[in-house]
Amino acid sequence: MILGVDLGNYYTKSSKGVSFLSKVSCDGGIENKDFITVENKKIYLGEGEFDTEYRKAYRENILYLLQGAIDKSTTDKRNKVVVGLPLSQYKEDKEYLINRIILSKLVDDVDVLPEGVMAVPNDYQGILIDIGGRTTDICLLIIEGNKRRIRQPISLPLGIQNLENNFINSINSTYGLDLKVEDSNRILANGLFIYGERKKVNLDSFKEFVENIVRRVQVDYSLKTNDVVLIGGGAEKLYKPFKNRIPQAYLVKNSFMANAIAYGEYAKEIFR
Ligand SMILES: Nc1ncnc2c1ncn2[C@@H]1O[C@H](COP(=O)(O)OP(=O)(O)OP(=O)(O)O)[C@@H](O)[C@H]1O
Ligand SMILES: [Mg+2]
Repeated sequence: MILGVDLGNYYTKSSKGVSFLSKVSCDGGIENKDFITVENKKIYLGEGEFDTEYRKAYRENILYLLQGAIDKSTTDKRNKVVVGLPLSQYKEDKEYLINRIILSKLVDDVDVLPEGVMAVPNDYQGILIDIGGRTTDICLLIIEGNKRRIRQPISLPLGIQNLENNFINSINSTYGLDLKVEDSNRILANGLFIYGERKKVNLDSFKEFVENIVRRVQVDYSLKTNDVVLIGGGAEKLYKPFKNRIPQAYLVKNSFMANAIAYGEYAKEIFR
C-alpha cells in the first residue's frame, strides 16, 4: 500500500485515518490490544512516555510509531510511505531519516517532506501556522515564477501539550486538585465539577498561548497584510481565539489529519 504517515510529537496519524498517541511501551496492561510485534516481542502503542528527543529523525521510538501506523492502516506487507519533518529539521535530517527507514526494512520506499506546507493548496500565498503537540511551525509561503518558496521558517517549542499543562496546573492550584493533563479534554468539554458543584474554569492560558504565538508571528511577518492559514490538531482547538486576534485566519479542513492526508496524496504521485 501507498501511505502518508505524520509522525507527530503528540499523535501519529496515517492517510487511512489511523491515529494514536505517539508513545510506545513494552508494558501494555491486559486491556491494550494495540501492539506491534518486533523480534517476537510485543510493543504497545499509545502507552508509556513521550520521547523527549527534539529531533524527530533521531528518536528511539520513531520506527515503532511508523510500524504501528502501517500495521493499523493495512495488512499489506509491502508498503511505500511518505513522512514529514518539522521545517526547522527538514534540510539537516531528511537524508538521515530516509536512510534509517530504508535500513529498517519496514518499507520498500520512503520520501520525507516538510511538515505543514503540503497541507495547503498549491497556489496559497501567505502565512502558515501549524500548531502541533510540542511545536508550532510558522512560515511564509510565496510563489516565485511558478515555484513555491518557503520564507523565514520558524519553529516555536510551544504546542498543545504546553497549553494543556498550564491549563491543568492553574485549575489544580486554584482548587487544590491533582488533575492530570489527560483530564483537560474532559474538563473543557463538560466543565469542572467538584462534588457535583460546577466551578469556574479559567481559560486565560488559551488566550495567553494564542497571544504568545501572535506576538512571535508579528516580529517576523506582516500579519496585517498577509493571509493566514491554520493547520494541526491544535488549530482546531484554538480556532476561536485565533480568529478573534487574526480575523483573516482560516482553518484547513480536517486539520488534525491534514499533514498525513497530504503526504498520502504526494505518495500516490511519486510512487505510481
Ligand atoms: N480527531 C482528533 N483526535 C485526537 N486529537 C485531536 C483530534 N482533533 C484535534 N485534536 C487535538 O490535536 C492536538 C494534537 O495536535 P497534532 O496532532 O497536530 O500534534 P502533532 O502533529 O502530534 O505535534 P507536532 O506537530 O508538534 O509534531 C491534541 O491536542 C488534540 O486535542
Ligand atoms: Mg504536527
